[in-house]
Amino acid sequence: MIKLHDTYFKPFISAEKIDAAVQKMVLDIANDLKDEIPVFIGILNGSFMFVSDFVKAYPKPCEVTFIKLASYEGVKSSEDIKRLIGLTQDLTDRTVVILEDIIDSGNTLEEVHRIFKNKNVKDLIIATLFYKPEAYKKDFKMHYVGIEISNKFIVGYGLDYDGLGRDLPEVYQIKTTQHMTNLVLFGPPGAGKGTQANFLKERYNLEHISTGDVFRFNIKNETALGMLAKSYMDKGELVPDQVTIDMLNAEVEKNADANGFIFDGFPRTDAQAKALDELMETKDSSINAMIALEVDDDVLVERLLERGKTSGRPDDADESIIRNRIKEYYTKTAILKDYYSKQDKYFGVDGIGSIENITVRLSKVIDAL
Ligand code: IMP
Ligand code: MG
Repeated sequence: MIKLHDTYFKPFISAEKIDAAVQKMVLDIANDLKDEIPVFIGILNGSFMFVSDFVKAYPKPCEVTFIKLASYEGVKSSEDIKRLIGLTQDLTDRTVVILEDIIDSGNTLEEVHRIFKNKNVKDLIIATLFYKPEAYKKDFKMHYVGIEISNKFIVGYGLDYDGLGRDLPEVYQIKTTQHMTNLVLFGPPGAGKGTQANFLKERYNLEHISTGDVFRFNIKNETALGMLAKSYMDKGELVPDQVTIDMLNAEVEKNADANGFIFDGFPRTDAQAKALDELMETKDSSINAMIALEVDDDVLVERLLERGKTSGRPDDADESIIRNRIKEYYTKTAILKDYYSKQDKYFGVDGIGSIENITVRLSKVIDAL
């Protein structure tokens, strides 16, 4: 991932892929033009790198020149095309090949046609390295297209984002989700996970997604996914991971402009951790850290027994049940600790001390991400 100004871009088309597309265009055009000596006209600024690589590979004599047009501001194409440097030579009866870095709305291409209208060229051939079919609004023919791409802003290989990125040898695509902080929060029963999750949510403007709450919500509201989950639960079967993932996906989509998410109660298995990674990937994002509150067993037992006195929860009243729950927690999370440790994303945080002290420790981890 790279950052230009305040915007994040992810790797999209490698230098090798670009080169292969350029070489193919060279061969196709050279074959079709036979012994004609073409005038290649690059549209500045964006096409300088493409034109350079293209003509270096062109196997026969040719002329090269440039015109300079500008239509883009920030990440949006504008109607208003400025001619900054026009044509400076007579092209009567010449075969002209326009070399464009990218064709987006087609406004620039329209201007190119306007420029050549009365120039009496023999042929006006359009070749573009990148083309965004979904954005194209004109009907001028494109004779050669290197790579078709979706309608998202790209940078690199001559293309810029407000001046930056032209020098990159490969192409990057804008991330639809800008930088998020996504946490998986763990803690044994009694570790104070709920309290800390609430604090983190406020402080970092994150959405807290507790899988238990999400299930209860979907079942109570009889959503399609809730009914599906319930059908498994009623049979005494485990709800398939995909159903849970679909529910989490819906939660993530509901909060598309959040700064990030705290996942709580999910994942529980290797397969679920992978599924969550894949989900975040589809959102142009990722899990940044698994944070586990670490508290000594004896302290947990003491805390839970204390809570049991007032909470009325029967599973908080019996020491051996409590110890079993803690043991089960460690058995289950050991796998996930491995999973996230391998990616250098596991952070154990000492969960003993005052709420404020623990909060400070958690913030240190998150601030350093
Ligand atoms: P059009 O006039 O909308 O077809 O846009 C053409 C010009 O806009 C190109 O020559 C580029 O300079 C610029 N442009 C279009 N799409 C992109 C992009 O994704 N990244 C950077 N520049 C772009
Ligand atoms: Mg251009």
